Amino acid sequence: MWWWSSLVLPILLARVCEAQRNYDAHDYYAVHLRHGVQPEDLSSHLGLHYEGPLGELEDHHIFRADERQHEYDHIETSIQELKWRRRRREIGAEEPHILDHILLNEKQELHKRFPLVKREPSPAPPGLISRQSKSEIKDYTQQGLDIAEELAIADPNFQAQWHLFNHIQPGNDINVTGVWATNITGHGSTVCIVDDGLDLDSDDLKANYFAEGSYDFNDPGPDPKPRLSDDRHGTRCAGEVSAVRNDICGVGVAYDSKIAGVRILSKIISNADEAVAMNYAYQKNQIYSCSWGPPDNGESMEAPNILIQRAMVNGVQKGRGNLGSIYVFAIGNGAASDDDCNFDGYTNSIYSVSVGGIDRKGLHPYYSEKCSAQLVVTYSSGSSDYIHTTDVGQNACYDRHGGTSAAGPLVAGIYALALEVNPGLTWRDIQYLTVLSAVKVEQPSDWTMNTALGKEFSHQFGYGKADAWAFVEMARDWKNVKPQAWYFGPWLHVKHAIPQGEKGLASSFEVTETMLKEANLERLEHVTVTMNVEHTRRGDLSVELKSPTGMVSHIATHRRNDAAKEGYVDWTFMSVAHWGESGIGKWTVIVKDTNVNEHKGTFTDWRLKLYGESIDAKIAKPLPLPKQHDDDDHDVVHTQTASVATTTVAVPTETGKPPGNPDDHQHRPVNQKVSATTTAGSKPTGTPAEDEAQTDPNFLPRPFPTFGVSKRTQIWIYGAVTLILAFLAALGGWWWWMRRKNLRRWMARDEYGFEMVDHDDDDASRPLANGNGVVGGKGKRRAGELYDAFAEGTDDEEDGDGVFDLGSDDEDEDEDQGRKEMAGRYRDEDR
Ligand SMILES: *[C@@H]1O[C@H](CO)[C@@H](O)[C@H](O)[C@H]1NC(C)=O
Ligand SMILES: *[C@@H]1O[C@H](CO)[C@@H](O)[C@H](O)[C@H]1NC(C)=O
Repeated sequence: MWWWSSLVLPILLARVCEAQRNYDAHDYYAVHLRHGVQPEDLSSHLGLHYEGPLGELEDHHIFRADERQHEYDHIETSIQELKWRRRRREIGAEEPHILDHILLNEKQELHKRFPLVKREPSPAPPGLISRQSKSEIKDYTQQGLDIAEELAIADPNFQAQWHLFNHIQPGNDINVTGVWATNITGHGSTVCIVDDGLDLDSDDLKANYFAEGSYDFNDPGPDPKPRLSDDRHGTRCAGEVSAVRNDICGVGVAYDSKIAGVRILSKIISNADEAVAMNYAYQKNQIYSCSWGPPDNGESMEAPNILIQRAMVNGVQKGRGNLGSIYVFAIGNGAASDDDCNFDGYTNSIYSVSVGGIDRKGLHPYYSEKCSAQLVVTYSSGSSDYIHTTDVGQNACYDRHGGTSAAGPLVAGIYALALEVNPGLTWRDIQYLTVLSAVKVEQPSDWTMNTALGKEFSHQFGYGKADAWAFVEMARDWKNVKPQAWYFGPWLHVKHAIPQGEKGLASSFEVTETMLKEANLERLEHVTVTMNVEHTRRGDLSVELKSPTGMVSHIATHRRNDAAKEGYVDWTFMSVAHWGESGIGKWTVIVKDTNVNEHKGTFTDWRLKLYGESIDAKIAKPLPLPKQHDDDDHDVVHTQTASVATTTVAVPTETGKPPGNPDDHQHRPVNQKVSATTTAGSKPTGTPAEDEAQTDPNFLPRPFPTFGVSKRTQIWIYGAVTLILAFLAALGGWWWWMRRKNLRRWMARDEYGFEMVDHDDDDASRPLANGNGVVGGKGKRRAGELYDAFAEGTDDEEDGDGVFDLGSDDEDEDEDQGRKEMAGRYRDEDR
């Protein structure tokens, strides 16, 4: 049957070679196609090779161009050509074209990536590097020996593994030995170490090694063997989780679990490959342990690329039989450089559990970052000791593992234990259990009571330290929480200079019970704030988020090394401090610029998003995949709805409030102005989407009532709006500008209402077409929104139907679809 194998073999080989991309020789494209479109049709049209699907992402594909051409994008160029030919009317606009089905196109360019850095400890400040004396470590207590005997642990380093059982500082360990005593050791659980390799030949790992869940993306092939001299990090992390109970080194937290390795850190990999890695064997790998991220230098502000973000959403929604992949991230080692994990888009993702460190004395180590997205801490290096684990080599041990890199895998190990007693836990159940079972660290910090939970939260320690016993006990009969629901607030335009000094600039938004009912949202888990702040020295800024209960999250902190001039551009900060709150009431964001210097800034806009447990599980829907410019989606949607919502909701928050301040912060009457502005902005665009109108019967009346301000102010607001409208309609652009100047002169005392116009006039002259590859500022898009509205009918080269917009419009279409679904859901709710 040789002919049979000659048929099958090439197919098999082709599949194996699929992921073996050669970025030095070829160009690769990650493309999201409209559902049902055949990728082969696109590749043949473009003369590209179809490489296959992009990991587990539905309708995402990889294409290859044989020749490598810098600064040339085959697909983008073809789309441009199509656009050009349509302009020339060589092809009708209605004529369907394969290129119209491209929802996202991203050329994979390695040199444009930020490096992914292992979270090993940075050099310790002097005084912290002295090692503990041998005699001290050997001061084993009888108890430790008894435990080892009882559990038949013969590993020579077990007694040095103080994080598992600490007999020098009793209580400063993960409290796992009692769990093992009940024969919970990780049977049936699988942890995947996403790192620089995993030494599958190590006698301390071999027996637990899980080949099916493993892959090498750096030197493509099935075995993630360490190859470079410093490919040791992944193996050390793996040992912490799953080092076998034998006579080598020590044991892992879940020493009977399976351990897989996905190797991505030894070379720069493309966004597409990283996205594939994050979903690798995601029906079999349950927990992904990631001890790396963007540099922790207190300067970088990097988030995973859209493909990787999608992979993570895909993972929590479809991985592990729809229970959701569990992503554990080391929080980062940049505390000594003022780094804050909210400036890292991996650790501040709602889909990841971010783990910080404490040392063997229960103290906060100098490196471990603090932030409002931190859920939990666990043990790592500091106070003259480290984590003792396995190393690369057949029988090699390591006694200096540390940094938050060493903390993350311990929590991953605890999760592996919990999944043994309750494999039905969802990714969100795991987060609930993490919050609820964490034990407060008795150290001075900014501990604040989360009244909804009756648990204290600290930005330095999260909800406390992980306790394996408490976690597993709670997991045993944990009832799954209902599915996720969410409420996304509208964009709130602020556009106001930030005062320097301690005062800050506040902007509030009122969330009503009705809004959350309509959103099917019962109680909060994660809260995010996406914002735009212009500032000439980013590190001078800090941001607080105050919830309706008064709980304050420091979502952004001052970073002395961060001299970036771009401020915050569509950046999403996250907080877990409000877990369990209802979310109803006034949310306030306070932006501060405490350094009084020549560097100044403006708070442009922000948007609140609440995620949590649904009220009615039956109507809950999975979150749509994030879009290229997820938080720019107002360029379509919010022209109408958002601004209306803004008006509707935001205004009452400042009702009757003097521009004073309830606390130390200077609360300017920002929202009052905001609403006036947004009303003005939304009116001229004027064509409320029909389905939007249906979702809210009060669509029109709502923006027009009291505004929560005095009659005089109302008259002023309506007057201003009417004037603007009249002039726009009658005179068009030039007159508009003139009028604006006049108005501003009249209203010099309070020019806020026109700030937005101001903002737009900076941008209105810019082309609207936003390249998919360009991470466009929101200002640009917002400008487009108004520009479109005001310049309707002009035959403009840049009228927004540009090539890329083919892509992004379609993305928005998806969004529209999602919104229609939401609308349907609300209606269901109303019945
Ligand atoms: C630690 O585990 C023991 C059982 O081994 C348990 O009795 C104790 O309560 C646990 N500690 C905490 C803080 O839960
Ligand atoms: C421990 O649990 C595993 C998996 O459930 C089982 O196979 C094994 O027999 C148990 N060992 C003991 C001593 O009960």
